[in-house]
Amino acid sequence: MSSDNLHIRNLEITPPLLLAPMAGLTHSALRTLLMKLGGVGLLSTEMLSARRLPTENPMISPYLIRTDVEQPLSYQLFVTRCEDVIPAIDALHRFGADAIDFNLGCPAPNVRNAGGGCLLMNETDTVRQMISTARRVTELPLTAKIRLGESLDKNKLKNFCLMLEGEGVDMLTVHARLRTEGFMRKPRWDWVGYVKEWLHIPVIANGSIFSVEDAKICLQVSGADGLMIGRAAPEKPWIFAEIARELYNVDILPQKIIFPEIYAHVLRELKARFRPERRLGRLKEFTHYFARNYSFGHHLASAVQSSSTVDEAWERAVVFFASNDAEGLSVLRKNESIR
Ligand SMILES: Cc1cc2nc3c(=O)[nH]c(=O)nc-3n(C[C@H](O)[C@H](O)[C@H](O)COP(=O)(O)O)c2cc1C
Repeated sequence: MSSDNLHIRNLEITPPLLLAPMAGLTHSALRTLLMKLGGVGLLSTEMLSARRLPTENPMISPYLIRTDVEQPLSYQLFVTRCEDVIPAIDALHRFGADAIDFNLGCPAPNVRNAGGGCLLMNETDTVRQMISTARRVTELPLTAKIRLGESLDKNKLKNFCLMLEGEGVDMLTVHARLRTEGFMRKPRWDWVGYVKEWLHIPVIANGSIFSVEDAKICLQVSGADGLMIGRAAPEKPWIFAEIARELYNVDILPQKIIFPEIYAHVLRELKARFRPERRLGRLKEFTHYFARNYSFGHHLASAVQSSSTVDEAWERAVVFFASNDAEGLSVLRKNESIR
């Protein structure tokens, strides 16, 4: 296994477990939960439009709201035009970013149609210009996130990765799937291993890590310097702590996970900092993943999905917990009455 110490520029990522950027999911409410449970070395925002960033208000934008405990925090840029790079990076300096990530891997049609995400893996010259521009104007760690490309083409992938490294990218995350591959296909962690062999900068493996065992195998197969975890973060937010403890010997005591408490944390944080119209969609998105912890979780997901306010969603969630997790609900109530 690779070393546990990951440094990029002045940023230490300990343990080398990274939260994946996920639209609608990796906001302040989830990030504070992850910090509470422990084990995350680097948090992330969701992708942020480089074009819009300079005019966003970080105190009210749901994409930018953050608290002091959410650090280190990487901000991911979704960028389509080189001229947006400098104003976006100026804004990220103002917002106190700890690292800046370039989204070069997103396959979503709306992102590709806008000329961003994984489409950029075919636009080497544009990306070269974007990265070299960014490198000139920031001392912050610059990272990039890619997929394997359109087809399994080692030469093409190698040249693209070497270009990124050559232009000054400090760390590269590889989501080990092709552009056209959905989540059903097994990720090709061995391909992350090829990238690792080609580059001198740290390489992070991403794709379908849902357990300590997955993490172990992924590290063995890829030889990666660290792991990035996406969907398992809202599904099992304690997964970082488990992997940190088991694979990186981080001293985090095992905690009893009380599902209703986890759910209540996210709701509370959404209500504390997000404007009313920004809460429900995020709660629904989180519930979609979190409900998988219950055998009848689809009942929870659909009850929340059809709610019109977060308070209604919470009332319905409580009804669900009462019949599916009475013990968890009573622990939540007891702890809330102590608080
Ligand atoms: C709902 C959702 C939103 C996502 N949004 C982004 C994004 O904003 N930027 C990005 O680079 N990748 C995005 N991704 C991809 C994830 O970062 C990650 O690469 C992918 O989910 C694979 O990791 P996982 O198997 O651990 O989930 C998103 C994935 C999901 C499921």
